[in-house]
Amino acid sequence: MPNTNCTYLGLTLQSPVIAGSCGLTNSIDKMKKMEEYGVGAVVLKSVFEEQISQAVMQSIEDTHFAGALGDAFDYIKSYSEMDAYGQYTHLVRNAKKELSVPVIASINCFSDGDWISYAKQIQDAGADALELNLFFLPSDYTQSGTANEDMYFKIIEHVKANISIPLAIKTSYYFSGLAKMLQSLSYTGIKGLVLFNRFSAPDINIEKMQLSEAPVFTEGEGFYNSLRWISIMSNHVNCSLCASSGVASGEDVVKQLLAGADAIQVVTSLYNQGLDCIRTMNDILRQWMTKHNFTTIDEFKGKMNFDNISNPNDYLRIQFMKHFAGIEENKR
Ligand SMILES: Cc1cc2nc3c(=O)[nH]c(=O)nc-3n(C[C@H](O)[C@H](O)[C@H](O)COP(=O)(O)O)c2cc1C
Repeated sequence: MPNTNCTYLGLTLQSPVIAGSCGLTNSIDKMKKMEEYGVGAVVLKSVFEEQISQAVMQSIEDTHFAGALGDAFDYIKSYSEMDAYGQYTHLVRNAKKELSVPVIASINCFSDGDWISYAKQIQDAGADALELNLFFLPSDYTQSGTANEDMYFKIIEHVKANISIPLAIKTSYYFSGLAKMLQSLSYTGIKGLVLFNRFSAPDINIEKMQLSEAPVFTEGEGFYNSLRWISIMSNHVNCSLCASSGVASGEDVVKQLLAGADAIQVVTSLYNQGLDCIRTMNDILRQWMTKHNFTTIDEFKGKMNFDNISNPNDYLRIQFMKHFAGIEENKR
């Protein structure tokens, strides 16, 4: 039987298929099921920077004396932060106690704030690694691209100063020089890049003329973008690469490995197909490896990345020239 062991963030995983951060990775029972189905690791539901701010505001409102708090403000602020993170470190501790696969904690953040010191508490709770879902929408007209990017490096530097467990950055593709930015991030001492995050987005309800939320579960969406960038960056970063977005089948897992991914995260498929899609993905991966005479993942990982194929420019083609030309021909 082929061996699906792999290394991600310096951790040994039994399978490259990882459960990405979501509501399902908030439940010990569900994660135990995922483990039964052969998941390589779990990324816990994130604790959000905003959760702490909200907890702080709620505590202050509850005092009824917000304006007269004086020195008490600092006490309440730190107590509320402890509560938000206390619940989270409890989840980390439980996950570590109940699971044998690596547990990756997750913080969703957007600023260089007080929350950074809590990364250490998450480490102390036993997390095997920390994934930072680090993003702020570059929508400020007064902020240059360089200033935006500097913030990423500053946050990483501060978090790294607080922890010694492997750090992964789950990032977006909202950078003007994406290849250079990803490469530079990989040289900050982080152990992994997750390409890419998918964001909640606004939609418009045209009857009520109100803003609503765009669909959250969009199976397949973002897969090809991630595949392209994994293949381009594979061999050119100083850390692990994890594919994320739109992975919906065992075949998709194989594609990302061929493109150069060290691991693959799935989320929407867990919701849409059920937790046992992990088992199906692992089965298909093993069947494909057997069919193609591969006994380990290292034998084929990156075999079809940008550097290893004869026609790498096809990874860079972004216009539908062939198809547009075809349409013109059919019209004649
Ligand atoms: C219901 C739901 C909850 C999510 N919660 C989080 C979260 O707490 N933290 C995070 O970093 N990403 C979160 N995500 C994003 C996923 O981890 C993942 O990056 C994204 O869904 C793309 O992968 P997919 O196409 O396999 O769903 C969530 C996604 C969904 C659908």
